[in-house]
Formats: sequence, structure tokens, C-alpha cells
Amino acid sequence: MAGPPPRFNCGEQSAEPWLQRAAVAADLLASLPVTARADAVLADIGCGDQKLERALRARGLPIRYRGYDLHPQASAVQRFDLATQELPGRHDVAVLLGVIEYLPAVADVVARLARQVPALLVSHVVRDGGHYDAARLRELGWQNHLTSAECEAMLADAGLRVFARRHTADRRTVLFLGVADGGTSA
Ligand SMILES: C[S@@+](CC[C@H](N)C(=O)[O-])C[C@H]1O[C@@H](n2cnc3c(N)ncnc32)[C@H](O)[C@@H]1O
Repeated sequence: MAGPPPRFNCGEQSAEPWLQRAAVAADLLASLPVTARADAVLADIGCGDQKLERALRARGLPIRYRGYDLHPQASAVQRFDLATQELPGRHDVAVLLGVIEYLPAVADVVARLARQVPALLVSHVVRDGGHYDAARLRELGWQNHLTSAECEAMLADAGLRVFARRHTADRRTVLFLGVADGGTSA
């Protein structure tokens, strides 16, 4: 298995906030009936070390998991650039944990993705919390640092209604679950 890439702060991928984020994501996804279906497919884009798959299985959710990443860390993960590529095949839900901060033209990318999947979960350390100053953002290499309202507007502009939102326990990260009309049904 390849190690984490030097970029995207993946050296911290085993840290507690990242584990908390995956746990909250799995809890939110469990509220979508489609995740109880073994014939449905979830795309974890920018999946890193696939910790979301472990969190889904720990909750007994049978949805099929497919990991995609610009820098795959395992052979099961498909090399994929969200900024330029379309998802291969049909997926019922897509997840972006710790990814939108690195995307150029993020609103366009999210809108394109929303045309391919009826439900989308995104996380972000929102600017409202004031957790990061400009120096830290430069160090992290973030291209986007959005407020909660900007995240929700981006999902709305992509045609997704915010069906649920949740903070991680340390309240740094907010997760937004957006669904298209009919996107919550099994
Ligand atoms: C901060 S890490 C988060 C990893 C994982 N989602 C997690 O929560 O542990 C960001 C991940 O997004 C991937 N990534 C960054 N830009 C990407 C792109 N344009 N397309 C696909 N993956 C990308 C990176 O390689 C990295 O694995």
C-alpha cells in the first residue's frame, strides 16, 4: 500500500479530527435510506486511506463503497481527478471529506458532480469559526475557505437541498448533506 501523499495534509490522516469527521459522515449517511441497500453505490472522492469505508461498515451499512483519489493509497482506490473528470458509472451518493478546500473553481466542480449523483455529502472547516488565519491557510495550501452560508449556497446553486448538517465534536468541521429532489428515497 502506498503511503499518504505529501500534499493535502495527509500526514495527519490518522489524527482524531479526521476520524471524528469520518464518524459524523457515516452517521449522516445512515440517515439516507439508500445506504441500507447493498445494490447502491457510494463514491468517496478524495478518499485518502478509506477511513469512511471502515466507519460505514462499523455501522453495518451495506452500501457498496468505491474509493477515488488523485493519489491512491491502495490498489482498490481508483485514480481520479475530480477537477477534470466525470465519475465512471452510476453512483447513488458521493462524499467529499476534506476535499473542497483544495479544488479550483469549486462551485463549478460541485455543480458538475451534482449532475452525476442525487446526494452529496461535503465537509469543510468553515470560515465562521475563525479557526485558521491567512498564514495557516497558506501552510495548508487551501484554495477555498468558505462560510457555512457559502457552502449551503454552493449546494443550492448546484440544485441540492441541504437535508442535514452536523458539526464534529470539536465543532471545527461542518458536514452538509445535500440531496436532489427525490434523492433521499431508497
Ligand atoms: C485532506 S485529504 C482527506 C482524505 C480523506 N477524505 C479523509 O477524510 O481521510 C484530501 C484528499 O483529497 C485528495 N484530492 C485532492 N484533490 C483531489 C482531486 N482533484 N481529485 C481527487 N482527489 C483529490 C487528496 O489526494 C487527499 O487524499
